[in-house]
Formats: sequence, structure tokens, C-alpha cells
Amino acid sequence: MSQHLLLPLAILAISPILGAFQDSALSPTQEEPEDLDKEAGRDCGRPEPSGRIMGGSDAQPGAWPWQVSLHRGGGHMCGGALIAPSWVLSAAHCFVTNGTLEPAAEWSVVLGVHSQDGPLDGAHVRAVAAILVPDNYSSVDRGADVALLRLASPARLGPAVRPVCLPRASHRFAHGTACWATGWGDIQETDPLPVPWVLQEVKLRLLGEAACQCLYSRPGPFNLTFQLLPGMLCAGYPEGRRDTCQGDSGGPLVCKEGGRWFQAGITSFGFGCGRRNRPGVFTAVASYEAWIREQVLGSEPGPAFPTQSPQPQSGLPEPTDENCTIALPECGKAPRPGAWPWEAQVVVPGSRPCYGALVSESWVLAPASCFPSLISSDRAPRDLDAWRVLLPSRPRAEQVARLVPHENASWDDASNLALLQLRAPVNLSAAPRPVCLPHLEHYFLPGSRCRLARWGRGEPAPGASSLLEAELLGTWWCHCLYGSQGASVPPPGVPPQALCPAYQEEEVEGRCWNYSHWSLLCREEGTWFLAGIRDFPSDCLRPRAFYPLQTHGSWISHVTRGAYLEDQLAWDWGPEGEETETQTCPPYTEHGACGLRPEPAPMGVLWPWLAEVHIAGEQVCTGILVGPDWVLAATHCVLRPGSTTVPYIEVYLGRAGASPIPQSRQVSRLVTSIHLPRHLGLRPPLALLELSSRVEPSPSALPICLHPGGTPLGASCWVLGWKDPQDRVPVAAAVSILTPRLCHCLYQGILPPGTLCVQYAEGQEDRCEVTSAPPLLCQTEGGSWVLVGMAIRGSQELFAAISPEETWISQTVGEAHFLTPSGFPHWLPEGGDLCPPDLASASGSPRAALFLLLLISLTQG
Ligand code: ARG
Repeated sequence: MSQHLLLPLAILAISPILGAFQDSALSPTQEEPEDLDKEAGRDCGRPEPSGRIMGGSDAQPGAWPWQVSLHRGGGHMCGGALIAPSWVLSAAHCFVTNGTLEPAAEWSVVLGVHSQDGPLDGAHVRAVAAILVPDNYSSVDRGADVALLRLASPARLGPAVRPVCLPRASHRFAHGTACWATGWGDIQETDPLPVPWVLQEVKLRLLGEAACQCLYSRPGPFNLTFQLLPGMLCAGYPEGRRDTCQGDSGGPLVCKEGGRWFQAGITSFGFGCGRRNRPGVFTAVASYEAWIREQVLGSEPGPAFPTQSPQPQSGLPEPTDENCTIALPECGKAPRPGAWPWEAQVVVPGSRPCYGALVSESWVLAPASCFPSLISSDRAPRDLDAWRVLLPSRPRAEQVARLVPHENASWDDASNLALLQLRAPVNLSAAPRPVCLPHLEHYFLPGSRCRLARWGRGEPAPGASSLLEAELLGTWWCHCLYGSQGASVPPPGVPPQALCPAYQEEEVEGRCWNYSHWSLLCREEGTWFLAGIRDFPSDCLRPRAFYPLQTHGSWISHVTRGAYLEDQLAWDWGPEGEETETQTCPPYTEHGACGLRPEPAPMGVLWPWLAEVHIAGEQVCTGILVGPDWVLAATHCVLRPGSTTVPYIEVYLGRAGASPIPQSRQVSRLVTSIHLPRHLGLRPPLALLELSSRVEPSPSALPICLHPGGTPLGASCWVLGWKDPQDRVPVAAAVSILTPRLCHCLYQGILPPGTLCVQYAEGQEDRCEVTSAPPLLCQTEGGSWVLVGMAIRGSQELFAAISPEETWISQTVGEAHFLTPSGFPHWLPEGGDLCPPDLASASGSPRAALFLLLLISLTQG
């Protein structure tokens, strides 16, 4: 033992002659790899001179002399470590694509390089003669991610080019040891190392197998877990933030023992970079001692495998009972909604305070439009010295060092953002505490609980906080209600164009909100994310579609280098997550979306335009929402024959009979007036009911589209009603609309103009009861639902068409959604109005007559 302890001293003594290493290569004394002293003589793992990634910093030139850069196609691709003059250790996945090893000729090794910008002074390059990868390597997650590169000619050793020591299979690196990873890889996910590409170093702690497995067994980013395999090693921190990243692969993880640096690991993979509970995974070099020795056999001088000193006590089992310390999110915790510990008030002399959010120790995110000087001139404001930031629980105001506007210089509404850097970082605790920011791929689940928070300039609206509670709508609803016509709906994992809150309470009439902007905070597992931003809506109503913040995460991390981007915490995607077909939104009318209903409609989905019209607490009629404050109903149902006074009428939307629709999604309105078109003679069949106030469009209350005329061909049509007027569970009966000629012939002489006749599909005749006057609807090819007619008194088959009343409806309801007729083929003009002679006599039974008529037209055709 003591002999081994003395060894490092001996090596130290001979180190000055190491420059002559290459010349001694032929020395016969070095041909015995088993001879420990001789092997140790091939010195390794000592940077000289000793001067001296994510969360790392610039390395000193020559501090890591074994670090090499592997180039392909003229650029850095991977890292590697020099282990002997002619050998570089790296990762297999750098060289294997789709199961095939890339040709060695395409690669070159750059040694002794520090900054990769400009001429690589002091560095030299070697061609690669061979790339060796273990036979059992298939992909990073299956392990054996190790490769050896034999250089075409030996490296020129010097102060900046020296080999590292390799551990023997028996070598044990103690858990918790601070080791160093180095490389020219990305400094954050999606953020490459900036010019001048100086080698980065980061201190990482070795994690025991059990501790690491414990972290990886908890679902993390993308809801994934991972089973570590023998030959893998973890290093990093449960809280993340310091890690290797893309481009560091193949590079070394080195630990100092007894004055020498041993390579414990090869950078292999991770889940994202620096994410919480996802430390970097390295190939454990000690596990590959035999393989490495086998590959380099006969090559002199080979790599050095110095004995570990002191030797590990044999027989001692590895501690596997390490307690698992998982890290919890450090951002987004609030004592209660509304008491936001990240709320930052930016005070610019001469203007009203502007609200933003603390996103890290030293950065505040706020609307760029709060700082007009930013927009009027390119340069940062000159009076930055006078700016102050007020944070919760801080005794004094913070000073501002820098103002960085969003990289999209236009600052359109979607990127109306600026970052302010504080002069001194604040200590994070319960308050101030940063808000969490979502990663690009974040999918806020439909039904997520959200709150509106102040953003930008404004005065708090007193007592209004309860009105700012919301649940997120599903992506389909959000895009199709507020997106663009025919747009495809982004599936989960693809950033949405908008996030839409559905408010828990009804809008308060006449209240106008006093803010310039809003932010949308959404909660997952008790952690709040800044999900979206939005300028003040011009209609004074609460905003309905927010610009998602997730698309700005890379700009924010790029500028702040440490904003708290947090992984998605809730993963129950529900039926929407399983939707595989890309969906497109049905066409819009000039007044926006109408007649939307998801297809296929999951259980419990409402017919959002179907209204219950309660007349004087007695009769209940069917009504159809045709505009934000108008419902169409059958005159005979809502007005007693002969009566001219408006009864007390209540309208309910967002109900589905007895089924348990949350109270918050139900809407009720009083009817303030009833409008009838001016008709001569007969009482007009259709009535428009004006509601006491507008209804916000939502999946439970949305206007239908209106049919512009002709009979929709090829559309599927339904009578939508209630089976039982007591429980009023909506039912739809499939029907086909007959041609005007068929209809005319069947009911010759008795039909008012503009009457439509339908035929029910087999067995569907009795689905809807008729006293409530059910509507006739069709679904267009584009997917929207259109109202075609309303039932005529007491009839199951006859409907008063909407289209003849188009002018009256459009004039009364400014925002009525009449579709453009072009989308609807009309019936071709039919020759004459001659009816087959037998029909009139058979008309006592419309069914029998219909059958006859169909028969006749078939034989004639
Ligand atoms: N596979 C990456 C590369 O090719 C290395 C990723 C390391 N990632 C991490 N989170 N530790 O460069």
C-alpha cells in the first residue's frame, strides 16, 4: 500500500521531462503494460502549466490538455480525450449513423486548441486512421457508447497536449466527488456556444447509481423515465442547470485523484440539458478497461492506467441505499393566487409603473411597449440609471443595468417583450421567486386552471380578482374559435398559435378593464407558469386568446442564461392527446366562427347553439343562437296565437338536460324583445328573440351558421330536439331533405312557400318530440353546422326554411353568420310543376305517396 502512496511523488519528480515522451516510445522498459511503475512512467492526467457546457465558464488555455475537438466537414462535431499519443477516446454515437460506422477519412482531430475561432494557433491537426466501436454498440440508450480513434500520426505532446489517465476496471470514484466536464457544446438547449468558441468547463458531482436511477425513474421531460444500464455513470445535480449538452459528446469527465486527472466518463447523453432531475449520463470508462486495452494492444506507447491510490477497500458493497433526493421546481410557487412573488413593478421616471415578471435572479420580463424609448430609438434609454424595479419582500428598489428588447425588432403583439437586467442579482426565496417559463414543446392541458394577472401599465380593478379565474380550452376550440379559417390545429407537442382561457364567471356588464395588457398564468401540480401574454382587447371584454410564451423560451434563455424554464408537470392528455389525424378548422363567416362542434364529438359535448327557451315558466321551446345576443325560435312556440304582448322569457345555453355540465359553463339571459318579419296574411313562422346581453362565444354557447338558400346536397342533416321535454337531453334524428318538387307534390296546395319536407332515416322518426319546435340542421362538407329551418307547428316533417328570411335576419342580427351560397349547390331547376297524377290522391299518407313518387322518378330516370 505504502508503495502506491509514494507513487504520485515519484511521477511528480519526473514530470519535467515529459516533453520527450514521444522519443521514449521505443524504450524497451515500456513494453510491459503489467509493470505498474513503468506504466505510470507514461505520465498522464497532469495539466501543465497549471493555471487554469451549460452553467459552465471559459476554461484557462492548457487547463485540459487532453481535450480534443473532432471535426467533420470542417466543423466541430464532438469532443474526445487524448489517452496516448496515437489514441483518442470518444463516444460511439458520434460516428455511427443508422447503424453504420462513418469513414475515418471524414474525420480529423484538433489537438491543443482553446478557442476555435480564427486560426487555431498552437493547435495541430491529425487525420484519423481508424475508428473502433464495440460490437455491442447500437444506440446511446443501450450503452457501450465508447469509441477509439487511432491517429494517422502521433500527436505532438507539449504543455497544451497531454494524455489523461484512464481508470482500471477496479477503480472506484466516490459518489459526490466533484469532477469536471469540458467541451465546445451548446451552452443551453438550442443555444450554441458563442464566438470565440472558448472551451467550457463545468464542475459536476458524481451521482451514485441508485441516486441517479431514482431521479430517472420519475417521469421527467416528455413524461419519460429511463433505466440506467451497467457501464453508465451520472454526473450533475438534481436541480439541474449545470450539465453537458449537444456537441460535448465524446468529451471527458475527469476527476482529480492523488494529483492526477483520471477520466471517469465520456459524455454520452441526457434528456434536454440541465433539466431538473435529469443529470447527464456518461459512459463509465472503468467498465471498458479490457476493451480499450484490447484495441490498443501492441501500440506503443499505449494509454496509462495508473493504479488507484489509495486502493478501494475490497469487499465493501457499493452503497445502494442512498436516499433519493429529487429536486422540486424552484419557480412558480405562490402562497395563493393573486399574491404573485414574481410580480415586478418597473418604475420609469415620468410614466406610470409597468408590471412584469421576475424570471431569474437578475432578469425581469415585461412588455416592450412599456418602454417607448426602446421603440422610438434603437439605442438603450439613456436614463437607465434612474429606473427602478420593485419586487415583493425586498426592502429597497432594484437598479437596472440593461434593457434588451425582443429579437423580433417589430415587437408585434406576439413578441411585445423586453428583458431588464438588474444591477445585482436578488436572493431567491419565498419572495421574490421567479415564475416558471414553459419549454417550446409544453402542452397546457385542456381544462388547466389559469389566472389572469396584470401585465404592462394599468390600475388594479377593485374586487375583480374572482373574474380572472379561467380554465384552458382545448386546442381545437381555441384555434377554431379564434384562429384563422381552415388553419390546421397543432397537435400536442407542437406550439399552439394561441391559448384560450374560458372564464369561470360571467362577464360583468359595463366593466372595462383598466390594463394595457394581460398575462395568463396557468398552474400545473401547484406550480405556476407564465403561459401567455396579450394586449388589451378593444371590445372591453376579457381577452379570449393569448399569445403563447413558449415560443419565446429560447430567446429568454439566450439572453438571461438561466431563466427558469420548467418541464411540463401534468401529462394526462385525455382524448385530445390521442387524436392522431390533423384537424383543420371549419370555414368562418365574416363575423368569425359559427357552427363549431368537434368531430367526432366525445361524450358530454354540447350542441353549443341549442337553447332552452322557457316561456313564462310554462312551455319550453327550442331556440337556436344565431348571434351573440339573438336566438331564433318558432313563432308558434314562443307566442300564444293572437297574443301581442311579450311574455317573460328566459333563455338557457350550455345545458344538456340532466347531464352534469358544470354550472360555470351555463349561461342564462332574459329576452327583452321579440321580432317578427313583416308578412302579409299568415303569421310568420320564425321569431327572433333579443337577449338582455351578449353571450361570450365558448364551446357551450356559440352561434350557428345560417343556410343561405337552396337545399344542401350531400350534407348530412338532422332534426335536433329533445326526446322528452321534461329532462331535455338533446337527441339528433338523421333526415334527408326532399327536393322542392317532391315536397310540393306530396303536400300539394297546403304548404306555405319556403317550406321544407324531410324524410327520417329508418327508425329515427320518433326521436324528437315536436311541441318544442325542433330545428333542422345540416353539417356542411367543411364541418360547420348550419341552420336550415325550424319545425312548423305540430309537424314532424315540415320545416320553415331560414333562407327566405335572410334579409330580415341579417338586418335584425348584425352579426348573423350566413354562409356564402357558393359553398352550397342548389337544386337544378326541375322541369315544370307537373306532379305524377296518382300522388295527389295518395297524399292522405305522405309516406305511401313518397314511395310512389320515388318509384316513378326512378323508372323515369
Ligand atoms: N448527445 C449529446 C452530443 O451528441 C450530448 C448530450 C449530453 N446531454 C446532457 N444533457 N448531458 O453532444
